[in-house]
Amino acid sequence: MNKLLTITLLSSLATASADPASVERGKALYQQICMTCHGPHMEGGIGPALADSFWKHGDSPEAINRAITKGIAGTEMAAFEAIYSAEDRQALTDYILSKQEGIREVVRYVYPKDHFKDKRLAPELFKTIESTSSTPLPENWLYVKRNLEGVVRVTAKAYIQKPGSYRFDIRRVGRTAVYFEGKEVHYSDEKSPKTDDVNEKLQLEAGTYSFEIFHEEKRAHSYKFYGNLVGPAGARYVLSGRSLQGSIPRVIVAGPAAKIERKWIKDLPPRALLCLLPNKVIVAYNPVDGTIIDAWHEAEINQTPSLADRSATPSQIDGKQIPDSTRPTHEGTNIEFIAYEVAQANALIHSVVDGKPVTLCIAPEGDNSFTISTK
Ligand code: HEC
Repeated sequence: MNKLLTITLLSSLATASADPASVERGKALYQQICMTCHGPHMEGGIGPALADSFWKHGDSPEAINRAITKGIAGTEMAAFEAIYSAEDRQALTDYILSKQEGIREVVRYVYPKDHFKDKRLAPELFKTIESTSSTPLPENWLYVKRNLEGVVRVTAKAYIQKPGSYRFDIRRVGRTAVYFEGKEVHYSDEKSPKTDDVNEKLQLEAGTYSFEIFHEEKRAHSYKFYGNLVGPAGARYVLSGRSLQGSIPRVIVAGPAAKIERKWIKDLPPRALLCLLPNKVIVAYNPVDGTIIDAWHEAEINQTPSLADRSATPSQIDGKQIPDSTRPTHEGTNIEFIAYEVAQANALIHSVVDGKPVTLCIAPEGDNSFTISTK
């Protein structure tokens, strides 16, 4: 008997929408402190992205709240218990959850093929057979396995933000059934005429929905399944393919415009801004006290060490140190960092120094140097 199956099928629509006031409050709190490590759009920096579907410490509301409350020992992620009230920590959780979109909580099971021969792929069939494997995955659920011998069942959740009409768009290879909230909404079998296909339109509100995909195809060198959940206004959630993790460039190199990154680098303070200029110079700037901490030329940011376990290991700067680059950039004593931006080749850092707005411009000079100026 497969217990998990029944749970997934019976779970009904649970809206992800929390109290809007709590989400607003969470947003304001997020911008106070979390943003410096997790990025203005939760895209990640020193801390991991919080808007993708890869969660190291659990993706449930409780798990997210726990990470915020208790912190994560041995990492830069502090416990916020003493800083924010329980209500504020809930507001932060609500805000993070409000940014969740796409396919989440994916688990892939594999079953022996024979059991399904000449039968329509449907949930009942899976109740009388044990899976040979079950694997929790990031959102790229099929890409990972080649030469797969068996019938695949994938359970997942769709976090929908845009209300409207959705449908599954699935390459017609082998046979595929999709059950959405327990009901068959898609069926295709390359051996049957196209006219037998089922492909229903789904009218969805913002919220979280459970779905299952059953799929079987001929054993081949590479898996051919490819599908999307397609919605209104360009909403498109990929069911297979590369994961967000896989598409993060491992090395961040200089480009025609400056880049400003926040990464956890050993011996640099967590809030350091790494300004990577087009001439391959990296300037590490500390926005808290307004000093240039260090600089390198012929440099790049290597994220490889931190990728496997996401962020438990620091990234590193590969390059040659520029001697004597440490220096203060502002005369004043009371420095409040506001924002950073890139203006073509230059990195601009906006602060308020002793009550006056100041913009620091870090610009490339020659092949291996930089200049600073303030406005
Ligand atoms: C000084 C940097 C820093 C700050 C500030 C910070 N975080 Fe984190 N956070 C991290 C790091 C690093 C991790 C990953 C720890 C690990 O490797 O397991 C993390 C992990 C998390 C996780 C778990 C992510 C997962 O994949 O399971 C959540 C949730 C989170 N942070 C939320 C927040 C919130 C909300 C705030 C603001 C109140 C905040 N963080 C502030 C650095 C930071």
